[in-house]
Amino acid sequence: SVVILDYGSQYTQLIARRVREAGVYSEILTCEATPEEIKAREPQAIILSGGPASVTDEDSPVLNKEILSWGLPVLGICYGMQLLAHNLGGRITKSEEREYGRANLELSQACPLWEGLEEKDSHVVWMSHGDHVEAVPAGFEILAKTNNVPIAAMGNSEEKIYCLQFHPEVAHTDDGSTILSNFLFKVAGLEPSWTMSSFVDATVKDLREQIGEDEQVVCGLSGGIDSTVVALLLHKAIGKRLTCIFVDNGLLRMNEGEEVIGYLREHFDLNLVWVKAQEEFLGRLKGVDDPEKKRKIIGHTFIEIFDREAAKIDNVKYLAQGTLYPDVIESISFKGGPSVVIKSHHNVGGLPEKMKMGLVEPLRELFKDEVRRVAEELGLPESIIWRHPFPGPGLAIRVIGEITEPRLDILRKADKIVQEELRNAGWYRKVWQGFAVLLPLKTVGVMGDDRTYEHVIALRIVDSLDAMTADWTRLPSDLLARMSNRIINEVKGVNRVVYDVSSKPPGTIEWE
Ligand code: XMP
Repeated sequence: SVVILDYGSQYTQLIARRVREAGVYSEILTCEATPEEIKAREPQAIILSGGPASVTDEDSPVLNKEILSWGLPVLGICYGMQLLAHNLGGRITKSEEREYGRANLELSQACPLWEGLEEKDSHVVWMSHGDHVEAVPAGFEILAKTNNVPIAAMGNSEEKIYCLQFHPEVAHTDDGSTILSNFLFKVAGLEPSWTMSSFVDATVKDLREQIGEDEQVVCGLSGGIDSTVVALLLHKAIGKRLTCIFVDNGLLRMNEGEEVIGYLREHFDLNLVWVKAQEEFLGRLKGVDDPEKKRKIIGHTFIEIFDREAAKIDNVKYLAQGTLYPDVIESISFKGGPSVVIKSHHNVGGLPEKMKMGLVEPLRELFKDEVRRVAEELGLPESIIWRHPFPGPGLAIRVIGEITEPRLDILRKADKIVQEELRNAGWYRKVWQGFAVLLPLKTVGVMGDDRTYEHVIALRIVDSLDAMTADWTRLPSDLLARMSNRIINEVKGVNRVVYDVSSKPPGTIEWE
């Protein structure tokens, strides 16, 4: 595998994803990891990420030189390059201003990293740095320059240490994937062996070992892709010793339970408990309009019901969860910059402690795009694999204000039209999330000769890469017109549709 040492770059996860896309397993450790911790991963190559600090500052993160004595191929990116130069006797120029954005890379001489690039006249690369290397350490050669930086890449072919001032991991760097692949295959001599079918085989084997011969496992199904993949992996490993519990909270979209859970029931011989708990949820939500209270009630009710159902199964030793790699990467943070941001509010915390069970987390190593590829491998249909993310509290946080069955009904019908129109127009896969929100106000309209006071539906359709930032999707106006017309004509009780044109930040994707 490749170990990526994180110096706090916002792009560290992207490096890991690109390496894996090339077919090599990679892991992220903080730059504070000890040599023993790094060695324990049996790395075949090491990548030092970028970062916001300046190597010349006193308290900036450092390189443990012991790593270099192992003779492994090393790639330093941005801060990683400066760190290597600094440690090996090169010179760094401290700049007042950051260079940010595109630059044109001029290759100075042939080297394994540039294989496949030489024929092209121009190479657009993405820069994001303050300092740069002014003089290379002994044994290094200058491999490329740009208008602004005389040493944009350097390398020591003997020691197999290469450094890039630009970011090969970002999509804006034209041949970034080729350069990274060249490092992995031409410099480090690795073989592409990380595929999703090998992941499935290895995981099934591991799960069998971890769980043993007799124990039972429970998992919650939500209708989302992560829990579905968790269930199918465990099903492959231990068959009917897995029980899936689907707590239907009555806050799902139209036909969602039937579409996803029904599909699983039909196509896989799962042990599946479908708990129809709408009344319990809606009863407890009666009269509640505070968003945080709604979330809490739903979370607690879920745990209670899940717990109750799980207690009915004998000999349950493990709870399976769909924790993903971004949730477990340890982040570093130090003065002067951002670190890898971790999302946490999505997981149902507290379950395992309460239930005194062991945890099984077969997706712990995967990024979201890899989960989708595993889902393909497992034979799930596109309609499940590419379903938009849906929040745990469901439509409860999209019915603004009090949740009642009639208001849920209005939202479901409007939302169904949004989904249908996005799909029919070929936009469903292009957007991150698209949905309807029911507002807690009525506005005036005319219908025939009468004035009406009816509900308002807001459309929220956004582009995003990871939900951390988002922007409203510039949908064609005729598509918006079709959604609006259909909602007003087909959904009784709605006379107005508005389009949300706010970005995140400062807005959020959801309205509550
Ligand atoms: P926001 O609204 O924070 O949403 O921009 C970011 C992403 O997270 C989803 N989301 C949630 N998911 N429980 C969840 O499981 C929640 O309480 C929750 N709130 C928001 C949202 O749909 C978007 O994909």
